[in-house]
Amino acid sequence: MNHKKKLVIVGDGNFGQMAYKYFTHDSMYKVVGFAVEKQFRTRDTLFNLPIVNFEEIENHFSNKDHNIFVAITFVQLNQARTRLYLTSKTKGYKIASYISPKASCFGASIGENVFILEYNVIQPFAEIGNNVIFMGNTNWIGHHTIIKDNCFISSHVAIAGCTEVGENCFVGINSSIADYIKIAKNCFICMGSVVTKSTEENNVYKGHPAQATGIKATQYLMKNNNA
Ligand SMILES: CC(C)(COP(=O)(O)OP(=O)(O)OC[C@H]1O[C@@H](n2cnc3c(N)ncnc32)[C@H](O)[C@@H]1OP(=O)(O)O)[C@@H](O)C(=O)NCCC(=O)NCCS
Repeated sequence: MNHKKKLVIVGDGNFGQMAYKYFTHDSMYKVVGFAVEKQFRTRDTLFNLPIVNFEEIENHFSNKDHNIFVAITFVQLNQARTRLYLTSKTKGYKIASYISPKASCFGASIGENVFILEYNVIQPFAEIGNNVIFMGNTNWIGHHTIIKDNCFISSHVAIAGCTEVGENCFVGINSSIADYIKIAKNCFICMGSVVTKSTEENNVYKGHPAQATGIKATQYLMKNNNA
């Protein structure tokens, strides 16, 4: 008899497929299907499981006994994932998180729709908000650091202790962020940046030390056609 909770993954792209593998490998959930917004749906099945229109998800998977995980990357500076996460809650679904048994989280406060892969270290007294994605492994989040809602932390990122990362931020691979600073909301930190000072809202930062480019983060993502 299978006692696992039923899970529907929102998104069937690369991240949706990653989420399927991780949730199937070692979680309390059994993936039973996928949901994709009608305008983006190109197929009916994935891994022999049904893909349904997100708009009609409740006609296929009841909110009484299905959980949702929204697996969308940082498109529109995390706003697409945030919109689908909030809509799923409005539809009455419980929201799942994946936290690898090989991650070290030391009882840190961790929200829902969070994805934490193997070998991430979240030190004691750190706080991780809702809808935060740690896409790669081996990130280090220092003690007493706060990662606010809807952020996307890529891979090999080091964020020192007592720092705050505001809502909707993207932090690129191999970035380092100093202790006791504030990354304002809606910032895009390019890969390999070394952030030594607090940042201004809705700006793109790059370099060592990281400098503001003056480019609005949302426009930057459109230029780079990311995710
Ligand atoms: C991919 C990326 C590096 C390209 O940035 P971009 O602004 O389009 O860069 P461009 O190619 O237009 O380069 C503009 C200038 O900035 C420099 N530059 C670009 N990225 C840089 C970086 N991360 N650090 C330092 N300088 C950088 C370029 O060398 C170039 O300099 P030049 O004008 O002197 O030649 C950037 O968008 C990025 O960091 N993306 C995130 C990648 C990532 O972490 N992915 C993980 C997903 S899980």
